[in-house]
Amino acid sequence: MIKVGLLGYGTVGGGVYNILTTKKEDIERKLGEKIQIKKILVKEKYKKRKYDVDDSLLTEDYKEIVEDPQIQIVVELIGGETPTLSYIKEAINGHKNIVTANKLILAKYGRELFQLAKNNNVKVYYEGSVGGGIPIIKTLKESMIANKIERVYGILNGTTNYILTKMTEKSIDFEEALKEAQNLGYAESDPYFDVSGLDSAYKINILSSLAFESFMDVDSIHVEGIEKIEREDIEIAEELGYTIKLLAIGKRYEDKMLDIRVHPTFIPKSSPLSKINGVYNVVQIHGDAVGDIMIYGQGAGEMPTASAVVADIMEAAKSIKYHIENEYSTGRLNGLKLIETDE
Ligand code: HSE
Repeated sequence: MIKVGLLGYGTVGGGVYNILTTKKEDIERKLGEKIQIKKILVKEKYKKRKYDVDDSLLTEDYKEIVEDPQIQIVVELIGGETPTLSYIKEAINGHKNIVTANKLILAKYGRELFQLAKNNNVKVYYEGSVGGGIPIIKTLKESMIANKIERVYGILNGTTNYILTKMTEKSIDFEEALKEAQNLGYAESDPYFDVSGLDSAYKINILSSLAFESFMDVDSIHVEGIEKIEREDIEIAEELGYTIKLLAIGKRYEDKMLDIRVHPTFIPKSSPLSKINGVYNVVQIHGDAVGDIMIYGQGAGEMPTASAVVADIMEAAKSIKYHIENEYSTGRLNGLKLIETDE
């Protein structure tokens, strides 16, 4: 049995709990191993939640998770930088594998965290950090590994795409669309990160570091959000045969330079990108061997993001299990038995 601790029980945390409990048997069958949530860190233990959890599972003290020797996977879904970064570091130093959807932390501190994880012989998994349920990290990291990537770009923020879509359909204005996106669980706890383009900048930074094999300073990315877009701009674009989308772009130039930027863009209506609406995200990648690929799906929200996070938890569990079996099969335990950590 692999024991997991959740840091945070908001929209995505609830989705993860839901999948891990309702699909318990399926997961065990697919993995050949049980996954058990041992503890969940919450701000307030006693309050009404969408998915009720036994009180004994909840804690307000993160140390009960990061210092629990039985927990092998820590799933960080608090978001933001403080105190999250220090929780993640403590967990890694305690030899726990990390699953996170925290794009800010990965974009700003990815290099440091991956190194720390390497030093501690654990891994950081982050499929949920970009594109919600879209399997984009694995696509870049594994499926496209034989390619030299020339460019990676797309719509990487569900909230702003939802707002722009609603404004284009003329159904509601900016403020109302933002409120809806918040109610649907798409927006960040501070929606400034969505609207200002910063969330997209963190995400394109993560994708670019994978695509171009280099970590870069997120502050050097040119970022423009959708705050200044008015309905009039959208109407003019429509008249000219375009749709306005917030694009995040990473491009290689002559093998010497990288151009990474985020800004609203006029997209011709003939382009498939112009048809990606609502909470949907899309990523287009050009690899020298495969050519163009395009991948799209729901980029935010409870279940799509939980789908990616649970995949990471299962991947981490698989790697832990495999490692244990490997140790057995190669005889490195010198005939000793592994200590069962199950209660
Ligand atoms: N606020 C983000 C978005 C959540 O709207 O895309 C998913 O990263």
